[in-house]
Amino acid sequence: MKNIIAIVLAAGKGTRMKSGTPKVMHKILGRPMIFYVLDALKRAGIADIIVIAGHDNAVIKEAVKKDARVLVQKRPLGSGDALNTAKGVLRNYSGDIVVTCGDAPLIRSDTIKDIISRHKSSGASATVLTVDLKDPTGYGRVIRRDGSVLKIIEEANANFDEKDIGEINVGTYCFRAKDIFDALSRIKPDNKKKEYFLTDSLEVLNKTERRVGAVKIKDPKESIGINTRKDLADATGFLKNMILEELMSKGVTIQDPLSTVIYPDVKIGQDTVIFSNTVVESDVEIGRRGSVGPFARIRCGVRLDDDVEVGNFVELVRTRIGAKTRVKHHTYLGDAIVGKNVNIGAGTITANFDGKNKNRTVIEDGASIGVGARLIAPVKVGKCAIVGAGSVLPKNHNVPRGATVVGVPAKIIRRAIP
Ligand code: UD1
Ligand code: MG
Repeated sequence: MKNIIAIVLAAGKGTRMKSGTPKVMHKILGRPMIFYVLDALKRAGIADIIVIAGHDNAVIKEAVKKDARVLVQKRPLGSGDALNTAKGVLRNYSGDIVVTCGDAPLIRSDTIKDIISRHKSSGASATVLTVDLKDPTGYGRVIRRDGSVLKIIEEANANFDEKDIGEINVGTYCFRAKDIFDALSRIKPDNKKKEYFLTDSLEVLNKTERRVGAVKIKDPKESIGINTRKDLADATGFLKNMILEELMSKGVTIQDPLSTVIYPDVKIGQDTVIFSNTVVESDVEIGRRGSVGPFARIRCGVRLDDDVEVGNFVELVRTRIGAKTRVKHHTYLGDAIVGKNVNIGAGTITANFDGKNKNRTVIEDGASIGVGARLIAPVKVGKCAIVGAGSVLPKNHNVPRGATVVGVPAKIIRRAIP
C-alpha cells in the first residue's frame, strides 16, 4: 500500500501490569503481543512501520528491528507525546499515517484496511476506530455531536454522564500526517495523569475546522486493550477460542475446548481428535485421523503424519513421526525422527541433550521400543528392530535392522534372520 506509514505506540510504562517486562513483550499464546499488531499491519499491506519504544525498552528494539524502524520516546509523557516522537523523521512526509497501540493485539488486518480506505475516501483529517461496549470502563469515550466525532474523553476526565457512553476509542486511528503533528503541538497535559493524550488532538482538529470521522467495528473482542494481567488472560481466551473454532470448522474434534490450548498457525488434518488438557504450540503440523492427548504437550517443530496416536503425558519437540505410529503413554521424544508403524512403549525417553548439544534419535519403520527404554542420542534403531523393556541404549550404540537388544547397556540377543 502506497502513501501510508504505520506507527505503533509501545513506549508506555505499562504500570498496571506490575511487571519488569515491557507490556507489549508479554506473550499471548507464545508470542509477544506486539507481533500480533505488526502482523496485522503487514497483512493490511503496510510496508513501512515505525515502533515507538521507551528509552529503557532494549528488548522491544531488539525484538522488532527486522519488522520495523524503532524510535525512542525519551520519557513516557503520554500517547500524544509518543506519536510526536515521529514528527522529526516524517518532516517531509505528506501522506497518511495509521496509528495503533502495541497493547491491542487482536486488531484484524481487514479492519486496518477498512479504516484506511474510509479515511481516504472521506477526506477527513482524522478517522478514529470505535466500538460499542457493554462495559466501557477504562477506555476513552467517544463524544459525538450530530453524529460526527467531537472529541474523546478519557476515563480519568469523564464526568458521570460521559462515563455512561458505551462507544469507546479502540486506539487505532488514521491521520493526515501534517494535520496531526500540527494538532499535537497544541495539546496540553492538563489531566490528572499530567500526560499528553493523543486523544485530545481530535478536539483540536475539530476546532481548527478539520474533519474527524469514525469507523465503528462490530466485534468488541478486536478492541481489547491490554493494561492488566486480567486483560492479558481475556485476550488469550478470545484468541484461543478463535483458533479452536477455526480448527473445528475444518473437521478437527476438540474434545474439551476449555482445557485445550492451541497456538496460532498450527495445522491439524481432518478427523483428528484432540483430547482434553492438551497443549499444541506453534510450528506444529498434525495429519489426518490422528489423536493427541489427553494431557499431551506438542512443542515446536513437530510433524505427525496421518493416523498417528499420541497419548497421555507425552511431550514431543522437534520430532517427526511417520504414519500409524503409536506413542501412547508417558513419553518424551526430542529431536527424533520416527518412522511409520512404530510402537513406542510407555515411558520411553530420548535423552537428546548431552549438556552442550541437542542430538538426534532415529527410529526406523516398524521398530518396537519396550516400556521404560532410554535412548541416549545420537543413536539409531534400525528397521523392525526391537528394544527390550527397561533397556538403555548408550550413544552411538545403533541397533541393526531386525535385531533385538535388551539390558543396561543394551546388548544384541538376536540378529535379523537374513
Ligand atoms: C488509550 C487511549 C484510550 C483508548 C485505549 C484503547 C489515550 C490517551 N487513551 O488508553 O482512549 O480507549 O487506549 O486501548 O491514548 N504509550 C506510549 N508512551 C506513553 C504512553 C503510552 O507509547 O508515554 C503507548 C502505550 O504503550 C500504549 C498506548 O500508547 O500502547 C496507549 O497507552 P495506554 O497507557 O495503554 O493508554 P490507555 O489507558 O489504554
Ligand atoms: Mg492501553
